[in-house]
Parts: sequence; C-alpha cells; structure tokens
Amino acid sequence: PESDHRSIQLRIVHTDWPAALQEFRHESLPVLPGDDLDQRASSANQVLLSCREFQWVYHLPPSGALDASTIRHMSLPRCGVNDLDSRSAWKDRVDSMLLGRAVRRRRRKRFSHQSGKWYKRHLTYRVVNWPRYLPEHQVRQAVKAAFELWSNVSSLVFWEAAGDPADIRLTFFHGDHNDGVDNAFDGPGGALAHAFFPRRGEAHFDNDERWSLDSGKGRNLFVVVAHEIGHTLGLEHSPVRSALMSPYYKKLGKDFVLNWDDILSVQNLYGKPPRGSVVQLPGKLFAHFQDWSQDLEGTEHQGGDHSSHYCWSFFDAITMDLEDNLYIFKGGHYWIVSKGGNATGPDLLRAMWPGLPSTIDAAAFSEEDGKFYFFKGGRCWRYKGSSLDAGFPQKCSSTGDLPRHPDTALYFQPLHHLVLFKGPKYYMVRGESLQVEPYYPRSLKDWGGVPAMANGALTRHDGFVYFFRNDQFWKFNPDTLRVVESGKWASQLGWLGCQDAALNQAVV
Ligand SMILES: *[C@@H]1O[C@H](CO)[C@@H](O)[C@H](O)[C@H]1NC(C)=O
Ligand SMILES: *[C@@H]1O[C@H](CO)[C@@H](O)[C@H](O)[C@H]1NC(C)=O
Ligand SMILES: [Zn+2]
Ligand SMILES: [Zn+2]
Repeated sequence: PESDHRSIQLRIVHTDWPAALQEFRHESLPVLPGDDLDQRASSANQVLLSCREFQWVYHLPPSGALDASTIRHMSLPRCGVNDLDSRSAWKDRVDSMLLGRAVRRRRRKRFSHQSGKWYKRHLTYRVVNWPRYLPEHQVRQAVKAAFELWSNVSSLVFWEAAGDPADIRLTFFHGDHNDGVDNAFDGPGGALAHAFFPRRGEAHFDNDERWSLDSGKGRNLFVVVAHEIGHTLGLEHSPVRSALMSPYYKKLGKDFVLNWDDILSVQNLYGKPPRGSVVQLPGKLFAHFQDWSQDLEGTEHQGGDHSSHYCWSFFDAITMDLEDNLYIFKGGHYWIVSKGGNATGPDLLRAMWPGLPSTIDAAAFSEEDGKFYFFKGGRCWRYKGSSLDAGFPQKCSSTGDLPRHPDTALYFQPLHHLVLFKGPKYYMVRGESLQVEPYYPRSLKDWGGVPAMANGALTRHDGFVYFFRNDQFWKFNPDTLRVVESGKWASQLGWLGCQDAALNQAVV
C-alpha cells in the first residue's frame, strides 16, 4: 500500500544514517525458507528508490546504493524538512520556465504533508523564544531581514505580531519537542532546523547549535531562518546547489541570498511584487547584524563614534605586535588599540593587508620574524607590514597539514612557535615553513582550563596568554600551564580600551 511505501522512504531519507544502514542490512540478509519474497523484493526496491531520491537531491551519482559518500551526506548539516516532493516540484518549475507551461499543482492529497500555500498576502510572525548567547535585538533584526528577502521578491507582506497569535511562529527547542521522534533535534551539527508547510506556520530551530549572526564561527542564523521561512510559505527543497532552498546549509557569500530558483518558486505561489521590481541585496551585507555599519547609518548625524564598537560584540581574531599595539579583527574590519588603551578604527582589512579575503578565521603576529599570519579556510597569508610574502597565499591545509578553519592562532613565546587551535585539539606550527611539528595535533587538555573554540588569543608582555571567547576571557600562566583568572574582557581588562564603552552602554 502507498502509505507504507512513503513511511519507509521517510525513515530512510530523514532519520540518522545508522538507522538507514540497518534498514539496508536487513534488505541484504540471506533468503530464508518461509520468507515472503515478493514483499522483500518490493521493500528492497523502496530502499533503492529512496536512496536514489536522496542522491538526486544532493547531487550524488544516483546509484541507489548506500555508499560512503551518500552516508556522509546524510550526516551533513542540513535542514530537517523531508525531500520527498522536491524533485517533482522542481521539474514543474523547470517545465514552466522552459516550456512556458502553467505550473500544475501536483496531485498530493494522498500523501501530502498538507503542503500548499497561504490564501492571504499579509502574514504575521512571532519569535516565540530567543536563542542563547545572541542579543535579542540582533535576532529580531535578522528575522525581519529574512522575511524581507521573501517579501521583496513576491506579493507577500509580513508584520511582526507583538505577543498576539501569529501566522508564522519561530521557536528554539532542545532535542525531542513533541512533534515526533523523527523530528527530535540531534544536538550540534546534523539537523539544524525544520519547518512545516502551510498553513501550519511553524519553524523549529535546534537550540544546541552554535548560532551566530556574523561571518565568523557557528551557523549563521539569518540564513537558516530565511530557508525555514521558505518552507512555511510552501517552498520545497531545490536541487540547485546555490539556491537558498537547497537542503544544504549555505554560507553567506558576496552573491544574492536568493537564487533564480528561489524567486521563481515563491512567485509561482504568490506572484510578483506589486511594484513590479525585485529588490535584492547581496549576501555580504547580511554578514554582520551587530555590525557598526548599520548603526552608523542611524547615528552619523549625531556624530556617532565606532572606535569602540568591537567592545559590544564578539570578534573573529586578536593579536598584538612588538609595540604592544592590539589588533582586533571583526568581519572585514580591524581596530588598533594602543598601549594606553586608545582605540582607532574601524578600518578595512584589505586596505592594510591587500590580498586578504573578506573575513578571516584566525590571526597572529609572530615575535620571531615580526610578521602577521592570517588563516582562512585551508589557506594562509603572511605579511611583513602591508606586503605579502612571496608564495602566499598558500594552501596550508594540504602542504603543511594545518587544520582547516582554525578557531584561534597564537604566537607562543616560550616555544617560539605558532599554535593553531581547532576544536578539542591544538597544533604546534613552525612559522617559517608553516609545517605542523611531529606528534601534533595534541589534546587541548594540555592547556589546563582553556576553553575550546576560542575567538582569539595573544601573549602579553606580562608573560600571560589571554584567550577570548564571546564576551569572556581566560588568563593562562604558561609556567604552570593553568588558567589563573577569567571574566568579562570588556569591563575587566582595561588594556582592551573598552571601559568607557562599557559604561556608556549601561546608560544607553
Ligand atoms: C528590500 O527592499 C528594500 C527597498 O525596497 C530595501 O531597503 C531592503 O534592504 C530590501 N531587503 C532585503 C532583505 O533585500
Ligand atoms: C589617545 O590618543 C590621543 C592622540 O594620539 C592622545 O592625545 C590621548 O591622550 C590618548 N588618550 C589616552 C587615554 O591615552
Ligand atoms: Zn529545508
Ligand atoms: Zn519541531
């Protein structure tokens, strides 16, 4: 019967892959006397079909076999909405575009997830609760922009409902949250979020993810919210890799957030915007919701000063040069804080270090050779002043075995080495060759009390190493190899130049 067929597909495509594997193994058991061969054959076929479906949506060779790369994709960060109808929905869209054929709403009553559309243009939304660690006003701003992405290219209009019942509700949950075992969240990684098709109006987000609203570490909440809103409006997954509605987690790039396939999908359901024009901003503008540039527009006339903007949010990296000037990196900008605690900036990263990418993962100044080292993805850059060393950027992850996307880089004086930190491990790196030393990586446990996933670290002339993560710092004694103090850097470490800023913020 059809309904069984669908439920098997659902399980295989959407539960975690070990369960899918089990199912597969079951299919390859030897035939025993008394087995119902017809039934076995048909369910083996269902496994094959659902595997193919998965492979198709994820751009894998559609072999139907649960091979290593298929299994790997099943465990990639992704949206938890199922992919059942995506393929035919996409075919409809392509047909309508290429052949000018009217979009045929598919016959989907029988095994539908009540997909469909809203029958009104004005919809309200509400953020029911807020993710940990992110300021509420920034999340609100990101959610507003995410709805605007869709309303700018369609006839829809969205309003935030203040406390009232809303058409679309966004909620953060841990683990199982009463919408079925298959929908339980799985902690960091794996499923990030899921949503229901119209007109249920619910989007759920995994509260165990490390959500962020800048281009640094963590999952960008704006992108995921925008994707899930697409589902609440009735959009299914797109097989176009660069589409927002691709089931893959997508990073914000310099391109538009919505791709032609996204726009076509929403316009198929709701028509074009009334003014006839489609306004889209490039993704790079959404990389920083707490970014000073947004405040700048509002406060410029009142003589707003952004020289201490870094004090109010996390940064991407930090380091210190031989004159004890502090460099703080955030998005495409940096600040310099002089020895006396005087901050200047923000200035453009690329103006000082031409050739750098738009943002960086980690940075360190080496006292050994007086050079700046920058890391982003698998690549690295080395500068003397503003001039890039010959042979850079390099693919350090392949030539030197350096980790990709390091959390933090540090020049570690006692050993005259660069240290890269990544998750629970650290790597001792020779500055000149950028090669990882033998017997590394080692466990972060060697650094007693230092947290994983720090934003940045530096050694001060007092000999202590300071680690920073979000608004916290840890002061590490390299002789005893222990953290000796911790707290909030903006208010407790005067040399970061934030004490005035911290006071001002309390008043505002
Ligand atoms: C939507 O369009 C308006 C102009 O009509 C623009 O100011 C706004 O930034 C756009 N929003 C997005 C998310 O592209
Ligand atoms: C900051 O720098 C300016 C100019 O360089 C100087 O006049 C001022 O005294 C400095 N302030 C502090 C607190 O060091
Ligand atoms: Zn999705
Ligand atoms: Zn849910």
